[in-house]
Amino acid sequence: MSDESAKLTFNDKTAALARRTGTIGPEVVDISALYKDTGLFTYDPGFSSTASCESKITYIDGDEGVLLHRGYPIDQLAEKGDYLETCYLLLYGELPTAREYEDFVYRVTRHTMVHEQMSRFFTGFRRDAHPMAVMVGVVGALSAFYHDSTDIADPHQRMVASLRMIAKMPTIAAMAYKYHVGQPFVYPRNELTYAENFLHMCFAVPCEPYKINPVLAKAMDRIFILHADHEQNASTSTVRLAGSSGANPFACIAAGIACLWGPAHGGANEAALNMLTEIGTKDRIPEFIARAKDKNDPFRLMGFGHRVYKNYDPRAKIMQQTCHEVLDELGIKDDPLLEVAMELEHIALHDQYFIDKKLYPNVDFYSGITLKALGFPTTMFTVLFAIARTVGWIAQWKEMIEDPHQRIGRPRQLYTGAPSRDYVAVDKR
Ligand code: SDX
Repeated sequence: MSDESAKLTFNDKTAALARRTGTIGPEVVDISALYKDTGLFTYDPGFSSTASCESKITYIDGDEGVLLHRGYPIDQLAEKGDYLETCYLLLYGELPTAREYEDFVYRVTRHTMVHEQMSRFFTGFRRDAHPMAVMVGVVGALSAFYHDSTDIADPHQRMVASLRMIAKMPTIAAMAYKYHVGQPFVYPRNELTYAENFLHMCFAVPCEPYKINPVLAKAMDRIFILHADHEQNASTSTVRLAGSSGANPFACIAAGIACLWGPAHGGANEAALNMLTEIGTKDRIPEFIARAKDKNDPFRLMGFGHRVYKNYDPRAKIMQQTCHEVLDELGIKDDPLLEVAMELEHIALHDQYFIDKKLYPNVDFYSGITLKALGFPTTMFTVLFAIARTVGWIAQWKEMIEDPHQRIGRPRQLYTGAPSRDYVAVDKR
């Protein structure tokens, strides 16, 4: 929907800026003709006030702490559904019927194996390489193994590439973990659910049968749901920008993984657990709160704050509940890290600095404690985030590619460098 509204006049040139209204959330001012009509660029380096696209996939209300996937609240999806159902919803826009769900699970399940040659690919890495470095490399190389699903103009190849990405990420992630710990790779098993399969590929060993714990598998599945998609975050924007050039989906997802790795983004779950470990005991919390408030100290409370949420991240609440379920199931009483985390949250939420800046725990604050209890090393935490977010990246990439108005993304700049000047010979400098 759009209607004529703002006009911007600059140096006797005027641009008519159409106001567009979405289904819910902030309206936008369409500035696409601004430069043509006035010679002006807009300036918004962190994109705090910029909508980069139109999307129907995910909506976040940061002030209310609301997260909807195709209109369905995250807490309902996490409580009532499973990860592959959420994948179907994100990709196709509607919850699947029983038949559609069964067919989708069947198709994803039968794409979980990777080309056998890929297992040799891993041997080029050092065993102590960070698993995220391995993921960037191996996922980026997928287009070297699956040439038959890289033509983005072919809807069938796009669908196959999408299924392959969603299906193979857990297998590749488990291989990265097994390589890291020096254990043999474990093949996927078609009779297991998505989360069961991942836990089995990570923790089964050839010497004995691996027993799936349904409580832990359900927790793993819910963690995947919580991390599936999140509007135009940094890594999703990276995938969209890479895809806008026509790059194949495997290369675009590898770009998303690289961006997710940053501690300000998906790397925060690893950084948050490292921070809780460094704090160690409740009595040291005031020292770290003071550091977080000190403008001269670059330290930030990892797992706190968010560009969009200025209220509690709804995923963090569900993650905290999941954390308690996992610790209870494993009989872990009085986990010192959980004690520190809960006390830190309590103190921060009552501290005027955090209240004024609307800093609340985000999805990464409790995930690390949960993943550590499930048996993962901290270096695998962001890898798990990448597994879950692959469907969001793919759904957003698919939406962009299928947009008939899609063009290559090419931002401009405010240039503050040297004006034109002539070359000076080296003996004259
Ligand atoms: C994810 O975008 C998404 O949707 C991401 C994500 C997703 O699902 O894709 O939700 C996943 O990345 C969650 C965020 C994980 N990152 C962290 O937990 C790292 C710690 N958080 C911060 O680095 C920060 O809060 C960001 C990066 C998350 C948001 O940064 P912004 O929006 O650019 O905010 P800012 O850096 O401008 O901070 C605003 C103010 C600053 O103070 P002033 O300069 O105004 O005085 O708040 C302060 C900051 O110093 N601040 C913090 C803080 N976060 C912000 N102070 C202490 N601790 C923090 N964590």
